[in-house]
Amino acid sequence: MGYRVGIVGATGAVGQELLKVLEERNFPVDELIPYASERSRGRKVSFNETEIEITVLDRNTIKGCDVYLFSAGAGTSKEYAQLAAEDGIVIDNSSAFRMEPDVPLVVPEVNPFDVEWHSGIIANPNCSTIIMVVALKPLHDAFLLKRVIVSTYQSVSGTGLKAIEELERQTRDYIEGREPECKVYPYPIAFNLIPHIDIFYDYGYTKEEMKMVFETRKIMHLSDLQVTATCVRVPAFRCHSESVTIETERPVTVEEARNVLEKAPGLKVMDDFSKNLYPTPRELEGTDEVYVGRIRDALVFENGLSIWIVADQLRKGAALNAVQIAELLIEENLL
Ligand code: A2P
Repeated sequence: MGYRVGIVGATGAVGQELLKVLEERNFPVDELIPYASERSRGRKVSFNETEIEITVLDRNTIKGCDVYLFSAGAGTSKEYAQLAAEDGIVIDNSSAFRMEPDVPLVVPEVNPFDVEWHSGIIANPNCSTIIMVVALKPLHDAFLLKRVIVSTYQSVSGTGLKAIEELERQTRDYIEGREPECKVYPYPIAFNLIPHIDIFYDYGYTKEEMKMVFETRKIMHLSDLQVTATCVRVPAFRCHSESVTIETERPVTVEEARNVLEKAPGLKVMDDFSKNLYPTPRELEGTDEVYVGRIRDALVFENGLSIWIVADQLRKGAALNAVQIAELLIEENLL
């Protein structure tokens, strides 16, 4: 049996990756409806070697699908997701509903059971949060988390296709001696770092940083977990990296942590400093797992650990996680 699948934002960076992931994983698609804006009228996207014309999203066209994968920004989700959910199940990649109490926020390796209580919309978490909680979950199960301190090194794919193009263009500008033009970010991203992702709150943190705090607590069902984040945009194309230090209730050794991480779903340990082996964003583009390396004592806590993690933002950070949620719904007979 197959499903009618709607991809809202099918021409975007995550939308394009959704098409690939559905294809590669042989997701049972009977019919695929790619939605985008008026700007894409007449364009086609390719799926399973077929060219499918874009359906322009509006209140009349958003119907008839069993499942809708939304990846067209929070504004589009706010306007159309409720309507789509009258017809099928919405898996929403935007931040629009993530913290709503009646919307599960799901990472299949961490809280698969939460898909059961959805009422039409399931939220796909923030990319940096997804990547981090895949590594935190097994560490919490074994050693009990008390505190999490994270700094991120986030690729431009998280901002969408325009940002990927901006990094390419600015890199050429810089090398050829032209002043780089900034259309997407407030500063050039080529050969630079920008400690500013999403808007600033008046208390000095960015919305991206606070997403990591609140979403981690919700996904892990740890409402008191102490988390602090610093989120930085870096000139990497599509893998996010994170430096994570944890304090735990129970004593933790590097060997014990490595054993736990090696057995955990969705994770690959890549950690041998004697061979310069650790995850790097360029080398891991297009992969599905969350890679962990630099596993070491945190030094500043009685019980603590520091790790370095890298994962493809467009895959596990967005499209793959959304498709895994849809697969989970099928397994649970919820679709
Ligand atoms: P379009 O290509 O027609 O603008 P990205 O994150 O890579 O920038 O992609 C955003 C995706 O969301 C694109 O597919 C874009 O379509 C789609 N999108 C943005 N705004 C709307 C809208 N108002 N209605 C439908 N699709 C939208």
